[in-house]
Order: sequence, then C-alpha cells, then structure tokens
Amino acid sequence: MKKIDVAIVGASGFTGLELIKIIINHPNFRLKYVANSEGGMSLSELYPALKSVVDIDIKKGDAKEIAKCASLAFLALPHKSAMGFAKELLDLGVKVVDLSADYRLELETYERYYCTHQDKEHLSRAVYGLPEFFRDDIKRAKLVANPGCYPTATLLGLLPFCKYIDESYPIFIDAKSGVSGAGKKCSDKTHFVFIDENVSAYNPLSHRHEPEIKEKMKIISKGVEYDINFVPHLLPLIRGEMCDIYCKLKEDIDPLEYLKEFYKDEKFIRVFDKPVTIKGVGGTNFCDIFAKKSNSNLYICSTIDNILKGSSSAAVVNANIMSGFEEDLGIPTIAYVP
Ligand SMILES: NC(=O)c1ccc[n+]([C@@H]2O[C@H](COP(=O)([O-])OP(=O)(O)OC[C@H]3O[C@@H](n4cnc5c(N)ncnc54)[C@H](OP(=O)(O)O)[C@@H]3O)[C@@H](O)[C@H]2O)c1
Repeated sequence: MKKIDVAIVGASGFTGLELIKIIINHPNFRLKYVANSEGGMSLSELYPALKSVVDIDIKKGDAKEIAKCASLAFLALPHKSAMGFAKELLDLGVKVVDLSADYRLELETYERYYCTHQDKEHLSRAVYGLPEFFRDDIKRAKLVANPGCYPTATLLGLLPFCKYIDESYPIFIDAKSGVSGAGKKCSDKTHFVFIDENVSAYNPLSHRHEPEIKEKMKIISKGVEYDINFVPHLLPLIRGEMCDIYCKLKEDIDPLEYLKEFYKDEKFIRVFDKPVTIKGVGGTNFCDIFAKKSNSNLYICSTIDNILKGSSSAAVVNANIMSGFEEDLGIPTIAYVP
C-alpha cells in the first residue's frame, strides 16, 4: 500500500513530540515535514532521545511548502496560530487534524471564550473528532477538530448516560491533570517548586473546556442544556488525567452493565468493575471508565493520557479514519507500567 505523506506543525511541543513518536512507527503514514515557529535545527538536535531513531530537518512552518510534500497535516499549535495554518492548508487541498481549540466550538461559543475567529468558512465544516460519537462524520471530513483533553475524558464518561441523567440537577466534574496538559512553557503555576508535592485547582467553574463539554452534551442529547460545573486541578504528574463526575439519575439502571453494553464494540474504551487509575492508561490511547450509583446519585470516573487519547494518539486515530485505515493502526495500547 502506498504510504500517505504527513506533516506535523508544532513539532517542538509536548503533543508534537507524541505525534512524531506515533507517526515514525506507523505502517501507512510517512513523516515528510516537521515545523515549529523558527526551524533551523534537526529533530535529533532538538530531541537527543530521537538520535539514531529518526532525523529530519525542522522547518519554520509554511503551508505552501507543506502542500508540496504532504497530503495530511497535524497542527499541534496554540489556538489562533492553528487557524491561520489550517485555512491555508485546506485551501491548498491538504487535510487537517487540528489539536487546538480553533475548530471545536460553534462560532458564538468560540468567540466568547477564545478570540475572534479568522476562518469561519472552514469552521462551519469542521468535524468534532471524538470517533466513539462522530465516526461517520470523521470518515468524510477534510478538517477534524481534535477534542480537548478534559472534554475527551469527561464526554466519554458522561455522553452514554445522556438519556438517563436528570437535567434538573447540576453535574459536577472534579478533574485532575498532569502538568504536560499546560504545554511546554513554564509559569509560576507549573514550576517544579509549586507543583511538586502539591495539588491546586485552577480556573474553577470558568475553564474553557466547560463550554466544550456543554456544547457536545447538548448535541448528543438533542437539545438538553445541562448545568455543567467543571473544576480542574493540577497534579504533580507529567502525564495523565482523571475526571470524577457526579450527577443524578432519573431512571434506575445498572450503570456498569449499561456502560459495558454501550461500549462493547469500542476498541479504545475499557469499562472496569473497580475504580480506574491514571497509570493504567499512561502511554496508551485507552480511556478507562468506572461507574457506580448510590440511590439515584451516579458517580463516573474516567482516565486518559492527556497527550495521547487526550490529543496526539486520538489525532492519529482520526487521521486513520479520514484515510480509510483501520482505526487502531499504529496506535499505542501498552501502558507505561510499572
Ligand atoms: N498538552 C496537552 O495535554 C494538550 C491536550 C489536548 C490539546 N492540546 C492542544 O494542542 C495544542 C498544542 O499543545 P502543546 O501542549 O503541545 O503545546 P506546546 O507544548 O506549548 O507546543 C506548542 C508548539 O507550537 C509551536 N508554535 C507556536 N506558534 C507557532 C507558529 N506560529 N508556527 C509554527 N509553530 C508554532 C511551538 O514551537 P516553538 O517551540 O518554536 O515555540 C511548539 O512546537 C494546543 O492548542 C493545546 O491546547 C494540548
């Protein structure tokens, strides 16, 4: 089979590096182009860990150059920068999987929480890249908006229950993430001295992933406006995320048996009979889920690796689907345990 040539823009970031690791081992994709904001060095100079494994020059990102050598591009860029690249690439006929928030939300929601949108035309055609719920749309898409990391873990836990959740009660999401979720740039809040042996909430009830969760819940439930309350925390971990979700059931169901049946054909969802862990999914594209109820109170816990199922491996799964490949081709499944 002829390989598909791909580009990674944002190769010097956390998710960019994960993309490189997956693509160089992928049987049907070939890494043709990598870029960051400056270029001018090789991949093994930037990442000595890749010496003797892969070497390719890092370029200063240029859409026209990408279009000459690749037919699919992964954008692992901050929001706003991503839409500039995506617009040009799509107009040049290159398919795009965007890891940023630029194409995830409806226009009004995006502009309220991020900035003025600069590519309204493609936004209206972007597909939300959560295969478990939007697989058929992804197959036909030229532009896939990879979901945010917290929304991935939260939605995979919550969406199956939409028809059973009592929407007259609030839903609480107590989320925790490893520090790689904040990207490679260090700040006071991600400094080792602050993070180590510490746990802290940030942007409680006002994080940008809250409207993303709300909007997708509304789509899947066909119009229900849930009262979503989202509080993320930083943990002294490099990677991994856990979302503890609390809501009210309006019907008496066995949540675990229901989840097992709901996800029985999904390769990357594992439903467990006991509480799940972050370590159990680290290094993989799995989302592990546990659920339990007490009377009508439902507790759901889901874990993912934020820089894999929460971004880069999920992006390659989307690219597999867009390219007509098996969904799990080249996708990591063995956790970093112990
Ligand atoms: N980290 C996560 O867990 C996670 C999960 C889901 C989604 N995301 C999203 O994925 C995107 C990337 O996240 P990240 O954590 O990998 O970020 P990051 O570690 O901060 O890396 C950002 C990358 O973008 C590059 N870049 C910035 N502006 C550029 C430009 N104009 N042209 C070319 N390259 C440019 C940077 O290059 P330089 O090194 O040259 O600055 C760097 O390679 C973000 O939108 C983020 O919200 C991240």
